[in-house]
Amino acid sequence: MKKLIGAAAVGALLIALTGCAGGGDGGEAGGDGGDLIVGFSQVGAESGWRTANTKSIQSAFEDAGIELKFSDAQGKQENQIKAIRSYIQQQVDVIAFSPVVESGWDTVLKEAKEAGIPVVLTDRSVDSEDDSLYESFLGSDFIVEGERAGDWVNTEFADADQVNIVELQGTTGAAPANDRAEGFRNIVTDPKFEIVASQTGDFTRAGGKQVMEAFLQSNPDIDLVYAHNDDMGLGAIEAIEAAGKVPGTDIKIVTVDAVKDGMTALSEGKINFIVECSPLLGPQLVEIAEAVAAGETVEKRIVTEEGTFTQEEAIEALPDRQY
Ligand code: AHR
Repeated sequence: MKKLIGAAAVGALLIALTGCAGGGDGGEAGGDGGDLIVGFSQVGAESGWRTANTKSIQSAFEDAGIELKFSDAQGKQENQIKAIRSYIQQQVDVIAFSPVVESGWDTVLKEAKEAGIPVVLTDRSVDSEDDSLYESFLGSDFIVEGERAGDWVNTEFADADQVNIVELQGTTGAAPANDRAEGFRNIVTDPKFEIVASQTGDFTRAGGKQVMEAFLQSNPDIDLVYAHNDDMGLGAIEAIEAAGKVPGTDIKIVTVDAVKDGMTALSEGKINFIVECSPLLGPQLVEIAEAVAAGETVEKRIVTEEGTFTQEEAIEALPDRQY
């Protein structure tokens, strides 16, 4: 089941060594990092997933002996744009970032391209029509994740006549919020399912709790919470318990991520199903950065392999869970 992507195994597949496209002026693929410098702009620290992702990236670059300039955008696109411009000014060898939102990147990406600095997207993509503005996009297929949540819902509620769903959406405009909403709706199509409320909880536990409190007040008969990440699902659990209901029983919950806290709630039956989204992207990002800095062409899209977890599977996986 549930395989996390093996960095080594996938790394062997992902890099097509086809010659001298791309920019960058230093660094050797597969070496000890040499004098390579990578600038990375992270979304923020909104969730357990994000913390694990930051740790994976920082330790992978440290292990490879590559200098990583790291900046935290605190959830703001303007901070990411500033960070990218500063990396351009500093003439780093590679720029990598996880875009807070999908739109509005063309200008700064063109600036990086004109400066000859290759850009790698990680975790989240941009909606630019010009894919020559970046070398590669490494991360999950968020539409598939939404579809996996939808598949579970169809099975779980196969015998129900009417199912009232509330949706805790991720950050407005972010790729995982857009795509997880879309994927779910691709699959949950029977008219007996009704999404009675849908609002952003900004991928945070506090946001999930606050929005769920409001949902509970205006919707007396909620059957299911679809939360775009574990943290919002965990916030929803707090709100449901405070309202005197039993999460996982009175109101079913499906989430995305599979971080330790989410998996613990699943093992306790408070969450009913989790779709995995792996944050362990660091080792692959190192390989891609080394390759593009060396002028090699890499796969334009590298999709992370992920699975799903039931309660039994969470109990089995928890002792070895890294994050
Ligand atoms: O982009 C990945 C998403 O961002 C994770 O699912 C969520 O927890 C995070 O904040």
